[in-house]
Amino acid sequence: MLSHKFAGTLALLVFVSLAFEAAHAQSQSSTPRFGRSISEADIAAWNIDIRTSDGKGLPSGKGSVGEGKALYAAQCVACHGEDAKGGSTYGTMVGGIGSFTTNTRVLTPGSMYPYAPILFDYIRRAMPMDRPQTLSADEVYAVSAYLLNLNGLVPADAVMDAARLAQVQMPNRNGFMLDDRPDTKSLRCMSNCR
Ligand code: HEC
Repeated sequence: MLSHKFAGTLALLVFVSLAFEAAHAQSQSSTPRFGRSISEADIAAWNIDIRTSDGKGLPSGKGSVGEGKALYAAQCVACHGEDAKGGSTYGTMVGGIGSFTTNTRVLTPGSMYPYAPILFDYIRRAMPMDRPQTLSADEVYAVSAYLLNLNGLVPADAVMDAARLAQVQMPNRNGFMLDDRPDTKSLRCMSNCR
């Protein structure tokens, strides 16, 4: 009887002290002990944002309207249709310029985007929708040139690269207004914020 009680108490003590040690060890390691630090090369693949107002961050490379037309026929036409006028999954990507002042707005890259580098950013990030981020920078420049040409914004012999894309004047450049509702007026704070 006595020895049973003793054994029970001993087991309890062992359990409590093990639990205590485990908790103690956990509080001592300030960082989790798994994984590895991220490298610059790892980050580069994700770091693809572009400042669309002036094209900062656009990669080197170039592509022509003609090259874009061929690429479009191979990789985009199935969803976007002939001459980007609308296809199986999406409506038109051409025209609509000036339609914002009417009751029948037509939203296309040509009619809506304030800056041409948005087109590059969108296509590089998300298109072709079934295989996003498989196009090279040259290919994205080419197909951007082609879509801008279909919208009548660059000539048929245009070649787009970082500098030239940023220079394209989009018709809706001044069509956006700042949201001036009171709750959008707070100042940005990056350190010691309260
Ligand atoms: C599998 C179908 C599919 C393929 C292939 C595809 N797209 Fe798209 N694309 C879509 C869909 C769907 C949308 C609309 C997505 C949304 O609104 O969220 C879209 C949207 C876009 C837009 C934005 C249009 C706008 O009005 O702002 C552009 C530009 C575009 N695609 C270009 C391309 C290009 C260039 C290719 C070929 C390299 C391509 N897409 C291939 C389905 C596709």
